[in-house]
Amino acid sequence: MPTEAQRVTDNRGAADRGLMERLVSLCKRRGFIFPSSEVYGGLASAWDYGPLGVALKNRLRDLWWREMTQLHDNIVGLDASILMHPQVWQASGHVDHFTDPLVDCRNCKSRFRADQVDIAGPCPTCGKTELTDPRQFNMMFRTHLGPVEGGGTEIYLRPETAQGAYVNFKSVQQSSRLKVPFGIAQVGKAFRNEITTKSFIFRTCEFEQMELQYFVHPDDADRWFEHWRERRFDYYQQLGIRAAKLRLRPHADDERAHYARAAEDIEYEFPFGWQELEGIHNRGDYDLTQHMTVSGKDLSYLNEETKERYVPYVVETAVGLTRTVLVALLDGYAEDEVEGESRTVLRLHPRVAPITVGVFPLVKKDGLAELARDIEEELRESFATFYDQGGAIGRRYRRQDEIGTPFCVTVDYESKDDDTVTIRYRDSTEQERVPRSELVAKVRAAMVEYARPEEGD
Ligand code: GAP
Repeated sequence: MPTEAQRVTDNRGAADRGLMERLVSLCKRRGFIFPSSEVYGGLASAWDYGPLGVALKNRLRDLWWREMTQLHDNIVGLDASILMHPQVWQASGHVDHFTDPLVDCRNCKSRFRADQVDIAGPCPTCGKTELTDPRQFNMMFRTHLGPVEGGGTEIYLRPETAQGAYVNFKSVQQSSRLKVPFGIAQVGKAFRNEITTKSFIFRTCEFEQMELQYFVHPDDADRWFEHWRERRFDYYQQLGIRAAKLRLRPHADDERAHYARAAEDIEYEFPFGWQELEGIHNRGDYDLTQHMTVSGKDLSYLNEETKERYVPYVVETAVGLTRTVLVALLDGYAEDEVEGESRTVLRLHPRVAPITVGVFPLVKKDGLAELARDIEEELRESFATFYDQGGAIGRRYRRQDEIGTPFCVTVDYESKDDDTVTIRYRDSTEQERVPRSELVAKVRAAMVEYARPEEGD
């Protein structure tokens, strides 16, 4: 099976590589994402989500969950365990097919993906011409269940969340009394021993997936595939991702995963080129049939009305939550000029931004700090807020711009007299005076009406 990394061709070109470096630096400086175990020098391709990063990730997760479960009466959730019976991965084909072809350098022991080096040429690390022939390398992480190494059961960390939904298909269907078509949505960690782990959080060994398995009658699979492809493509634009940065790309016959009858990627134009954000797959009855064969358990479905018994097809939508975080950050990142000064701004959709409203007193004295605190405490019932009384007001705005806070409320002397405040909009930097009593409604409306300014506006 070609892995995602293999399917992607290196299509770098005019792309802005500096953007990635600036973003990585911003993420570290402002507490979005830190290198893992940095005090020990870090761990390749592992990242920790700091206070703002976890807030952003949770927002993207919650929006996906709402979109994929709450808005449907026939899609339910599941949280299957990461560790599963080893036969799951035998049946799913991952033990035999989930491989990357790798070469090793006999001299310095560096390891490379065979399709990314000249295997007859010198080692990119040490320069000696000592590369081995390509060998298939399974990408699943293996470990042991039980206290004795070698004495217990060899198991795997799951490389996708999907299998949890297949092996629970019958339990979910019967306990929830669902009729086909219906879906099982799941968010959770997945692990792949990836060799190509550059590009920040784009491809990591430990990541989170958000997957829907939608079980349909085989005759309806093509229709549902199109339905979900369109719906998922539109979804990113609702999140505020620029349409020009998104495209759909059908897989060629030779790049589809072993389970897929049809596959199409939603791609985003990253600074290193167009690459997969989400995959939509028609997995046919491959997975359920495999689990029926290997487990000996019946996973077919009976239509009570027509009395037809069949193995449903699965239409899957599969996206990396952590990759969505990267897309939100990259797509939002902008540098512009405000009153002759350059600023960095994250144009995140207000529903995505980690903090929705910043609240500042113009000055700390004369009771303004107390009033601003009071307003912030009221707003935090409805929104994620941040109170800041330190430094010049312009600098406080910039600090919020840089982390994507769409609205800032400032409390000034007039506020004491007439119970009004100013609300300042991140993208336009315009300010508006509003009665305190209308603040919650005003922010809510601005969130609903939000439209990102066109480039150059
Ligand atoms: N269940 C199907 C499946 O796992 P996939 O195309 O291999 O399909 C789905 O993965 C999504 O998971 C990808 O589109 C990508 O967003 C994300 N993903 C895959 N490997 C990843 C990795 N190593 N790091 C971060 N995200 C990854």
